[in-house]
Amino acid sequence: MNQVKKIGVIGAGAMGSGIAQVAATAGNKVILFDSNTEVQDQAQELISKMLNKLEDKGRLEGSAEEITKRITYADDIAEFKSCDLIIEAIVENLQIKKNVFEEIESVVSDTCIIASNTSSLSIASIAAACKNPQRVMGIHFFNPAPLMPLVEIISAVQTDPQLTANMKKTIESWGKVPVSAQDTPGFIVNRIARPFYGEAIRILEEDLANVPTIDWAMKELGGFKMGPFELMDFIGNDINYEVTATVFKEFFFDPRYKPSFTQKRMVEANRLGRKTGIGYYNYGEDATNLDPDRNDGLGEYIVNRIVAMLINEAADALYLHVATKEDIDLAMTKGVNYPKGLLAWADEIGIETCLNNLEELQAEYGEDRYRPCPLLRKMVKKGSTFYE
Ligand code: NAI
Repeated sequence: MNQVKKIGVIGAGAMGSGIAQVAATAGNKVILFDSNTEVQDQAQELISKMLNKLEDKGRLEGSAEEITKRITYADDIAEFKSCDLIIEAIVENLQIKKNVFEEIESVVSDTCIIASNTSSLSIASIAAACKNPQRVMGIHFFNPAPLMPLVEIISAVQTDPQLTANMKKTIESWGKVPVSAQDTPGFIVNRIARPFYGEAIRILEEDLANVPTIDWAMKELGGFKMGPFELMDFIGNDINYEVTATVFKEFFFDPRYKPSFTQKRMVEANRLGRKTGIGYYNYGEDATNLDPDRNDGLGEYIVNRIVAMLINEAADALYLHVATKEDIDLAMTKGVNYPKGLLAWADEIGIETCLNNLEELQAEYGEDRYRPCPLLRKMVKKGSTFYE
């Protein structure tokens, strides 16, 4: 097994700085590089501040000073020569990533693993820039990397399967929860979570309930930590819209993933959420927001509809071998804090009920958006469950 001890991280923005912190905390030597020296300096300050804060709270294994010393800052990619693993976390642009991968490969040894933290680009397309694409994989952290436990490990068609199996162990030894995913749009989390936002917006557009009511239902009755609109405002409506639009395009415009005008207009109006002071909610000092309509019947309808759509996505990801059932459930609980794994939740609700909910929606709307996953039909015929 390739011993991974020296890690290079390229891109010192939100993700790269967090990944560098995680790798150094786990005892590795880390080199961090950003083409923007200002960002690199900010990352150095931020990492040291974060580590000191964790140490003060008694939540750090080891000393902040020692961990900070394990991270050095490069002026050039040439300094990554002796790295065992490189994680790229630069701007989400295929051509720029390809150029950087080509440059990395010209510098590192033949055994160095090269990974991308991309959220939406295919690993196969990035790997194609390398002479030795077998060593290229996706290592997808969640934001903020030091806090979110989930890491998706993605194999491209070119990737050596042994390398990804070993990488799972390495990432686990960093105190993270790794899951394996196929190189398909959105990998696990960003694919399966789409209806959490999309179906909530659809319910709003149909004027079946307003924003605070949908959020109230999903939190109080559904058990989710945040409602869909609160979460979109938190993530940023521009970022959430971009992910939705990319997944839709990458799925060859499957209507299931169709973005909404409501979200597009929010972006156009610069109502991006917390960061602009207004999104679905108003975050101004004197702002007043509507109260939810705490109607249990309406609330249950909202939860049943959104959860049915989420379960359908999870079943589809399993049916199409994107990941195992265990990894799908782990991904949604550890990556986006869902109260339960969706497949375990489907067993609880009953597979037949899940299928009926989807068939009713499909019959009512006549839209392919609601087509049930064939696996659910097969399971109902057989009378089986996900976890027997
Ligand atoms: P960011 O914009 O905060 O940081 C990107 C950094 O890359 C910038 O500081 C930029 O100066 C640097 N950069 C650009 N081109 C470079 C080059 N050729 N060489 C070296 N540095 C270069 O972006 P963020 O949010 O950290 O995202 C980075 C990657 O991580 C993207 O691929 C994104 O899709 C992915 N990602 C982002 C998540 C998020 O929530 N922000 C979550 C998971 C993955």
